Order: sequence, then C-alpha cells, then structure tokens
Amino acid sequence: MAGRNFLFVPGPTNVPDRVTRAMMVAMEDHRSPIFPELTRACLSALKPVFKTASAAPILFPSSGTGCWEAALTNCLNTGDKVLTSRFGQFSHLWVDMCTRLGFEVEVLETPWGEGAPVDRYLASLSADKQHKIKAVLVCQNETATGVTSDVAAVRQAMDSLKHPALLFVDSVSALASIDFRMDDWGVDVCISGSQKGLMLPAGMGVTCVSQKALEAAKTATARRCYFDYADMVQANATGYFPYTPSLPMLYGLRESLAMLAEEGLENVFRRHTYLAAGVRAAVIEGWKLKLCAVAPKWHSDTVSAIMVPEGINGAEVIARAFNRYNLALGAGLSKVAGKLFRIGHMGDLNELMLLGAIAGAEMAMLDVGVKIEPGSGVAAAQKYWRNNAVQAKTGRAA
Ligand SMILES: Cc1ncc(COP(=O)(O)O)c(C=O)c1O
Repeated sequence: MAGRNFLFVPGPTNVPDRVTRAMMVAMEDHRSPIFPELTRACLSALKPVFKTASAAPILFPSSGTGCWEAALTNCLNTGDKVLTSRFGQFSHLWVDMCTRLGFEVEVLETPWGEGAPVDRYLASLSADKQHKIKAVLVCQNETATGVTSDVAAVRQAMDSLKHPALLFVDSVSALASIDFRMDDWGVDVCISGSQKGLMLPAGMGVTCVSQKALEAAKTATARRCYFDYADMVQANATGYFPYTPSLPMLYGLRESLAMLAEEGLENVFRRHTYLAAGVRAAVIEGWKLKLCAVAPKWHSDTVSAIMVPEGINGAEVIARAFNRYNLALGAGLSKVAGKLFRIGHMGDLNELMLLGAIAGAEMAMLDVGVKIEPGSGVAAAQKYWRNNAVQAKTGRAA
C-alpha cells in the first residue's frame, strides 16, 4: 500500500525521525573508556522523568514484563503475600506472573472499565494486622481498557495505616505521558518500557527502584540472576552494564529524553490531555459511542478503548481499518475481545495525525455497519481542538 502505515495501537508508538536517526550508529565497544558517558547521560536524564532524586533508574534488555519479574524476584521472598487489583488484561497478566513465580496473591477483582479500588486496598491493608502483605501492586494505566488509576491515593491509604509494604507501580503506558511521581508518591518500584511514552522501539525495560526496595533486595530470597538489581546498580555505578547493552537503544533513549526535556515534561502531559480530550469528543459527542472507562475520573490520556454497539464485532472494525485503510488500531483483549477497539494517543503525536486515525476508524466502522454519522467524529475532534489551546509554557504553544 502506498503511503505510511498509521500506527495507532497503544504501544509500540511512533518513533520520531530524530530518535530513529540517533539510533543508526556503528557498533562500539561497550567496555571502552568513553562508554560511561552514554550510560550516565541516559540514567541521569531518566531521573526527572521518574520524578526522583534518590531512586535508581535501571535499564534491562527486556520489555516491561521483565521489569515486573525483576520487581517481584528482587524484593520479595518466594511465598510472600502481595495485594493487587485486576481490571484489565495487563493487571491480569501481572497477577498471573505473581502466581507462577510462587507468591501468594490477594486479588481485588474490579469491573473492567474501573480502576484501582482504593477503599478496598485500604480495607485489605487494614485487616492485615500482622503485615503479611509485603508488596502492594497497582497498574497506573490499564492499557486494555483505557483506565487510569490514582496511585497517590493508594499510597495515602498505605500511609494512613503505616503499612510497611513496598509499593510497585506498573507505569508502562503512563510514564512520560501521564504524570508519575516516584518520590512524592513513595513508589518503591516503577515498571515501564521503551515503546510507549518514551517513543522508542520495544526491547528495553525501563524501571526505577527506591533505596528501600534496594535494601529489601539485599535479603530477599526469591531466585533471580539475569534481572538482579544489585549486579546492575553495581555495574552502572562505574558507567557500565553487567552484560552487553543495546547501543542503538541507548542512543535512542538519550535522544528521546532530550526531546522530552526540550518540550518540558509538564507540557508533554498537557499535550496528552489535550489530544485525548479531542479523541474522547470524537467518540462521545461525534459517534455517540461509549468508552470502556465507565466514568470520567478513569479516562486515560494515553489510550481510549471504544465500545462497539451490540451485534458488531470490534475485531472486524480493526481488520477493516488495517486491510483497507492501512490503519493499525488496538484490539480488544481477553474479556473485552470483539467488544471494543482502541486508539492509542501516546507519544510523538499531534492533532492532524490523530484526525487521520479518527477518520480511518470512522470509515472502517461505517464499512462494517456501525450506525454513526459520517464525519461526526472528525468534526467533534476538530471542534474540540480549534476551541481549546494546549496550555504550553514552552515548546509548541497554541
Ligand atoms: C499496562 C501494561 N503493563 C504491562 C505491559 C507489558 O509490557 P511489555 O509488552 O513491554 O512487556 C503492557 C504492554 O502493553 C502494558 O500496557
């Protein structure tokens, strides 16, 4: 097909040309005397992205899933109890991993379309008088349902009870797009990946570990080797890695972190909110469809999961968009398979790119028989963006 593929899945996201160019490098010796400059540039520029002064950013040659495993196996003893909630495919997969690695999991089952149930976290922690719960897990942005949770409120619940558990947060589809605060929220491990807000190809696990978690790792007995925090922190302190790092990914990361700093992280968040609001206007006001997120407080600024009407298979919308219009939309996963499709609005994006996705989704829906007004989504998003400025202090002011 002529023209570019329109990539609107919620990760991998579009890699800016500047980042692609930065990645096209000849291979180098990762033990050379100048290599530490690259390591240090990446690790120090990550700290403001995690909003931390004291925690250690760590880069694993994995995807986000590897960082889940690292958090569990470095900080806990096999058999330890963890508390989490399940409200989508990714929070489900984390539960599944906990079980498969031999941890005892208390799962707060939550309807898909809602986020972390803070009052129920509070109740479970409050019932845990003997402090058997060693870690509290929260998925900040459930990519499968387009739902964002209130991590700060979970931390407040823990603090109100003086519960000593560690707090692990999955910020895979939030970091560098939706506000995340390692230090302010007292997060012990933040789990993320390269292929979403960091605008890189997949293949790098990007995580950040508090001093409390590193301390816990010294005595935690769960088995780990390749994902050992101590090996990584020790090697990183000298500017190196315990095994061969991916040079192109490090060069790409250094460039994407420079782009985020140039735009200003808070402006990046504002841009995501503004673009997401235009997409939501297309869905709700234009197409008169529903989001999977059941209330505005759960709306995600990085991904919208759009419910298709009864009698329509969401997978057909996605197939039509891909085969006919060269547009990649996100699929409905597990429980919501066929019931929705997703538009990712994360990373290197602007209004006109999103209008392409909205127009393509609109044509695909019409083609498979969804009864929407032709042009209504595009018109609603245009109206929203024309009437609302991105309130940016620097960068691309509106
Ligand atoms: C919220 C969330 N957590 C975890 C993952 C798994 O990350 P990865 O595919 O990078 O291993 C994803 C992937 O999309 C995700 O969206």
